[in-house]
Amino acid sequence: MNQKKWWQDSVVYQIYPRSFQDSNGDGIGDIRGIIKRLDYLEELGIDAVWLSPVCRSPQDDNGYDISDYQDIDPMFGSLEDMEELIAEAKKRNIRIIMDLVLNHSSDEHRWFREARKDKNNPFHDYYVWRDGEEGVYPNDMKSLFGGPAWEWVPELKQYYFHQFSVKQPDLNWENPAVRREIYDMILWWMDKGVGGFRLDVIDQIAKDPERKITNNGPRLHEFIRELSRETFQKGDLITVGEAWGADIERAKLYSNPDGSEFSMVFQFEHMMLDQEPGKEKWDLSPLPFVKLKKCLAKWQQELHECGWNSLFWDNHDLPRIVSRWGNDREYRAESAKMLATILHGMEGTPYIYQGEELGMTNVRFDSIEEYQDIETLNMYQERMEKGYDRQDIMESIYAKGRDNARTPMQWDGSRNAGFTEGTPWIGVNSNYTEINAEQQLQDKDSVFRYYQKLIRLRKEQEIFVKGDFTLLLPEDESIFAYVREYQGQKLLVAANFTDQEVSFEISGQWKEAKTLIHNYKEEASGRKLRPYEAFIKLL
Ligand code: NOJ
Repeated sequence: MNQKKWWQDSVVYQIYPRSFQDSNGDGIGDIRGIIKRLDYLEELGIDAVWLSPVCRSPQDDNGYDISDYQDIDPMFGSLEDMEELIAEAKKRNIRIIMDLVLNHSSDEHRWFREARKDKNNPFHDYYVWRDGEEGVYPNDMKSLFGGPAWEWVPELKQYYFHQFSVKQPDLNWENPAVRREIYDMILWWMDKGVGGFRLDVIDQIAKDPERKITNNGPRLHEFIRELSRETFQKGDLITVGEAWGADIERAKLYSNPDGSEFSMVFQFEHMMLDQEPGKEKWDLSPLPFVKLKKCLAKWQQELHECGWNSLFWDNHDLPRIVSRWGNDREYRAESAKMLATILHGMEGTPYIYQGEELGMTNVRFDSIEEYQDIETLNMYQERMEKGYDRQDIMESIYAKGRDNARTPMQWDGSRNAGFTEGTPWIGVNSNYTEINAEQQLQDKDSVFRYYQKLIRLRKEQEIFVKGDFTLLLPEDESIFAYVREYQGQKLLVAANFTDQEVSFEISGQWKEAKTLIHNYKEEASGRKLRPYEAFIKLL
């Protein structure tokens, strides 16, 4: 293995700023709120914070529609606040990772306002246009947020292309001037001392609407290599590309240890297994557990020594893992810890999404009016128009809606969970009186304390970073178990993924092994695993 990079034994914590901590009572989380909570993050033990976008934005997609890449949205604070955050985090050995949204800008970005003035405007070619006739779309491509991917601009008699909302026009990466603007902007942030970047839907930048190509366009890796060379390679950064369409071969390119692209990618194969091919995420279907194990095992083995994995269950686009694949009722703490054990036992860089370390759960708002997410609201309207049953739509939202992850962070049992003194922009999950950080910090057996221990283990034991991976009992329908090996040392990670007791014989040499972590107070029996029981042993 090449020289170890700093981010290989690091753990990243993702913050969704508008839901993390409000400091000024406007009901929206902000940068000063994050500064106030840095001690909490230091205590957890994480190394870097990935901030979902805080740049200036009309907030059509909660900041993933940027109107000025070099300024902070006043809702979140100021550039000075951002500089202070970087400095304060640094004092605690925490690096700040910015979210770069480079596939599209906001339609309120100066570039787009210029672009739509006139076909000869120098900014026109910063976006993707097609001549046409009103009502006759250039082709039948659809936006990922519903409706056509084309929007008509009458003054120009042209359509522009948008893979997301109409307020998120796609940038034209074929234009070298666009790429140069982007590089200069990134260098400017690097100068401010950021520790890395997360690159939003990076696999969609090299689109070719003529051939209906969105993901993995022909020039994708050429663009990324240029981007990396012109920017990231001038620093010692962590870079992570979001790539829904990445397969193993592409992931090896993206995370090539030669550093020519990114440090790693966020790919979603394991998170899509409870969605049937050809169906939408809203069409609910059970998790094929054996497939999940085999999928994760494949990524572990294939990238070992020739790439690098991001390890995650949660982010701001996904429902809460304890509700999704754990049990958010009688075994909430056990199953939250079990899921953490499986993930943190693997090779890669683990990501913790805010509140995951508390075992925060999905939310069930009674009415659609309480939901805020553009994707959810568009789907609701579309399905209502198509005649779906309202309750079925709500069940889909309860299971898969992005607002599940976006309810305010649960700090304590006081009003609004200590998130804001004003009215929160989205409702607080009503279970905050039982599930909150204050309570878990006082409890040595809490989910928080368990995550803290897992993070520490990764730093203490090199085998977590470097060991190879063998899946045990691949066909077993209840147990997720694997062995890692490195220089004569071995780790056994074993977990029961169900709410039933199952037999699991700890045999031979493993009987003597040291237990590094275990999610039940009473010793493991050696013959069975209780509901959601999990442990890691070292030999
Ligand atoms: C992926 C982001 O994670 C998501 O929140 C956003 O809506 C889309 N990209 C569009 O930027």
